[in-house]
Amino acid sequence: MGSEKAAPLRIAVLGSGKGSNCQSIIDAIEAGSLDARVVCVLSDVADAGILERAARHGIPARHISAAPYRTKLAGEAERAYLAALREYGAEVIALAGFMRIIKEGLLHAYPDRIVNIHPALLPAFPGLESWKQALDYGVKVSGCTVHIVDAGIDSGPILVQRAVPVLEDDTPERLHARIQVEEHKAYPAALRILAARLRTPG
Ligand code: GRF
Repeated sequence: MGSEKAAPLRIAVLGSGKGSNCQSIIDAIEAGSLDARVVCVLSDVADAGILERAARHGIPARHISAAPYRTKLAGEAERAYLAALREYGAEVIALAGFMRIIKEGLLHAYPDRIVNIHPALLPAFPGLESWKQALDYGVKVSGCTVHIVDAGIDSGPILVQRAVPVLEDDTPERLHARIQVEEHKAYPAALRILAARLRTPG
């Protein structure tokens, strides 16, 4: 029947840090503004705050080591992540402060279904500490970007951007904090766009 409601989008969140973006996704779902379910949260850092946050909401939360690599997700570790993603039936992967480069194994398993949030207006300032890069460069506007992940670093089709003015007396910390406020609106918005795309026939 055409009137049947689409099933909620099954999202896996991967992160290495405190998990405030993961929280914004959970909050949007709980508030009814994002028709989705966080099916699992996976982290390469055993004591990452993101795992605690997930557990507090009754979401399966697992530390999966990505050793021996330091900056990428590959080899045996990539296979372990894939196995967990399949076990929890993830349809899309939301990278939320996951400090590793995603390689072919995951990209092929989830084509155009991996999204990332970056704390700058891409394609400006890819890489690490982009709020500091923006400040050092002297731009007057920065912000955040949610994009589909491709084989590059912080590259791929953009879903949502939100701008943040850079203030005269900004410090890296203050600018990053204001960017994060916008990130927490941008991520749920981007996932709404992705859900609509995936649930639209054809
Ligand atoms: C965010 O600023 C995100 O843009 C970057 O890493 C940070 C993660 O923050 N990729 P949190 O762990 O979601 O609070």
